[in-house]
This record gives sequence, structure tokens and C-alpha cells, in this order.
Amino acid sequence: MTDTKKSATLSLNGESYELPIFSPTAGPDVLDIRKLYAQAGVFTYDPGFTSTASCDSTITFIDGNKGELLHRGYPIDQLAGKSHYLEVCYLLLYGELPTATQLEDFEGRVTRHTMVHEQMHNFFRGFRRDAHPMATLVGVVGAMSAFYHDSTDISDPWQREVASIRLIAKLPTIAAMAYKYSIGQPFVYPRNDLDYAANFLHMCFSVPAEDYNVNPILARAMDRIFTLHADHEQNASTSTVRLASSSGANPFACVAAGIACLWGPAHGGANQACLEMLKEIGTVDRIPEFIARAKDKNDPFRLMGFGHRVYKNTDPRATVLKQSADEVLELLGIEDNPLLQVAKELEQTALHDPYFIDKKLFPNVDFYSGIILEAMGFPTSMFTPIFTVARTVGWVSQWKEMIADPQNKIGRPRQLYLGETTRNYTDIENR
Ligand code: SDX
Repeated sequence: MTDTKKSATLSLNGESYELPIFSPTAGPDVLDIRKLYAQAGVFTYDPGFTSTASCDSTITFIDGNKGELLHRGYPIDQLAGKSHYLEVCYLLLYGELPTATQLEDFEGRVTRHTMVHEQMHNFFRGFRRDAHPMATLVGVVGAMSAFYHDSTDISDPWQREVASIRLIAKLPTIAAMAYKYSIGQPFVYPRNDLDYAANFLHMCFSVPAEDYNVNPILARAMDRIFTLHADHEQNASTSTVRLASSSGANPFACVAAGIACLWGPAHGGANQACLEMLKEIGTVDRIPEFIARAKDKNDPFRLMGFGHRVYKNTDPRATVLKQSADEVLELLGIEDNPLLQVAKELEQTALHDPYFIDKKLFPNVDFYSGIILEAMGFPTSMFTPIFTVARTVGWVSQWKEMIADPQNKIGRPRQLYLGETTRNYTDIENR
């Protein structure tokens, strides 16, 4: 925690209270209200946490006005252009870019943990074939606690490290298994001769009946999508993992909680909802109808893939994904993909509409990712599982940071109570 030299004075009920101010290395100052209730007998009120810093962190910084995203200080566009997913995983986990030797060792450790316990295959048999893969992921990742007892003691740094590697390594395998199970194809084992992204494509798309050669263009696009979704400060699912972990629950159970949160259409589920929306719009001439619906207060419809709690200018990940969509579709010879045309026209229409300008609504990370994923051959139901695979390193990195923080304590928010005050029980004959 940074030392504090400044403070703010709160005048309340004739008393004055000094609230220390902490200055960050980047971003807004924070008011330390930890002693407010003890000193002044009042709570702060911030549903949705629009003005609340839940922790201090050194992992990811977002400047919503500049549209800036840094991982350990490195801009996301540089990492997406020059790095690759497992190197970004190392950076998020350990704080620095690895040397060649460190990277080789890290990639080797992840590669050798990509298989799952053979008995975990049986878990899938309990699910309906048409279960959403996110439902399967929540269940199977939570069940990892039942298999990997030797990495659930969070007080042991070595067990924390093993659990971190296991989660990063096995999520692609479990996600691919969920996909294979949903289409009635046999599970495909990981291969140690393939890199992380290529291995995932191989586990998803190869079949025992013939050889499968991973398209390097798709592998590069897959790796870039993983990198762009790796971490994002204290978003809803990361905050879920942190809160679940604050009780001392094991990392597999906490990541399963994060997966459940990410599934929501306002969060990671938006990539699936966005592509389904683009398909519902269908053609450019129907865009005005949907823009009108998005602006209609009486219509719950929202433009999926638009808006963000933090970004009020542009989501830098959307910028990279838009370029990647152009590249991938052109390289695949489907640059005239009607969905891409609808997406680009929708973006331009919205960006020139006063409603979206006034409310600072711009395409976010989920707006273009679905177009690439569909072009790669994934069904929309696999979009959020892919986001889950990528974000696992962010959840794990934030979890490790929190567990190692000596200030770490169980998260226990209070409330503004508006219910009944004390009243006596009435026997049923008198009601
Ligand atoms: C992710 O937090 C993260 O970092 C998340 C994420 C990550 O990497 O972890 O970036 C990933 O979740 C990206 C967001 C994906 N979700 C969507 O694309 C769903 C559509 N977007 C919205 O639901 C919304 O924009 C949110 C949830 C993303 C943000 O919601 P906020 O910050 O709570 O904003 P809000 O709902 O209060 O909206 C502010 C205003 C409202 O109008 P008023 O009540 O002020 O009149 O803008 C309107 C909203 O009605 N609005 C939209 C809109 N998003 C907000 N109107 C139409 N379409 C939209 N998409």
C-alpha cells in the first residue's frame, strides 16, 4: 500500500473525520474509508461498485478515458502484436517478461499439465448432450477440487503455484471436452508437440478418423484472442473469484464461481449474445430498427458488444480484434462475410448517433470476437468458454496476489436496509 500524505475531511452530524487519501502509480486517488463505520457510524453506498476500489493491485491498469489497457505496464496492443498468450500468462503471474530460459521452463510446465485425470471423463457423461458448455465448465472445473487434493491448501505457496499451472493448463482441455461432448464426438487428448492455441484447436476440431493439421493463421488468431481476454482489472468475474477466495475456499471452487459469473450476457456471455444479435439483424437495412430498440427505454434490448463500465472512449481490445477480423476473414477468403458487414455498419451508425455518443457507448471486446470465432468454425455456444479459457490466467493471477497480501481478509459488504423494523410473530389463526 502506498504511504499517505493527503487526507479528505468529512463533516457529519457536527463532527469532522479525516479520511486518508492514497495516490496510485496511475489512475484516480482513493479515499481510505476502512475506519469510517467505526469512527462515524455510517456506511458508504455504492451498488455496482461504480466508485469503489475493492483492493490494491499491480497486475492490470485500465484508463477508461484514454482507452488504455496495461498488463504489468505493457500496453495491450504491443502484447497482442509482439507477444503470445503463454508469455502474457507468465507476465501476469510473475510480474515481468520472462527470459528465454524462464519462458521455456514455464511453457514446459504448462504443457505437461494439459491432461486431466482420466476419471474426469466420467463427469461429462452426467450432462445432457445439449447442455450449454458453460454449464459443463462450471461443474467440471469445480470438480477439480475432488481430484487435485494436493493443490488445495492455499496457505502453501507451492500448492498455490501447482494449482495455478493446473488451471491454466487444463482449462483448454476441459473446454474442448465440453465442445466434443456437445457434438457427440470423442474427446481428443492434448499433444505436447503443439503450442497452447494450436493444441486447443486440435482438441476441438480433430477427429480420430483422419489427420488434422492446425492452420497456422487460425492458431495465431486463437492465440491473439486468448491474449486479448487474459485479464481486465477488477471486472465482475474477477471480483467474484476474489470474494470467493477471501473465505479461504480452494482455487478450483473459486474459479468455478468466476466461470458462473462470466457466463452472464452483461459480461462474458456478451460475445455469444452479440453474434446472435448480428444474425438477428441479418442485413444492413435492418440496423435502424435495432438502433431504435436499443434507445427505447421501454425495450430491454441492448446492443450487445457495446458499452463498458470503464471504457468511455474506446476498448483497445476491440480495435485489435477488428483488425484481426479483417485479416482472418480475408486469409480464409470470406472477407465479404455478411455478419462483418453488418457489424461494421452497425458500429459506424451507432458511433454517429447522439444517444451512443452522449452515453459514451463504443464497441467492446465482445463486438468483433464472435465474428472471428465463427469464421474459425466454433458454434456460438463455445464463445464464452473460449473467453473462460483465456481469463483463467487473470483470475489465477489476481487470486495469487490477494492470497499473498497480508491485509487479505474475508470480504463482507454491508447494506442500506429498507425492510421491516422489529415486529412480533403472529399466530396463523390471527393472520
Ligand atoms: C465485458 O468489466 C469488465 O472489464 C468486463 C470485460 C472484461 O474484460 O472483463 O470488459 C468484459 O463484460 C464487456 C461488456 C460486455 N457486455 C455487453 O456488451 C452487454 C451490453 N452492454 C451493457 O449491458 C453495458 O454497457 C455494460 C453492462 C457493459 C456496462 O453497464 P454499466 O456500466 O452498468 O452501464 P449502464 O448499464 O448503467 O448503462 C449506462 C447507460 C444506460 O442508460 P441510462 O439508464 O443512463 O439512460 O447506457 C445505456 C444504459 O441503458 N446502455 C446501453 C448499452 N449499454 C449501456 N444502451 C444500449 N445498448 C447498450 N449496449
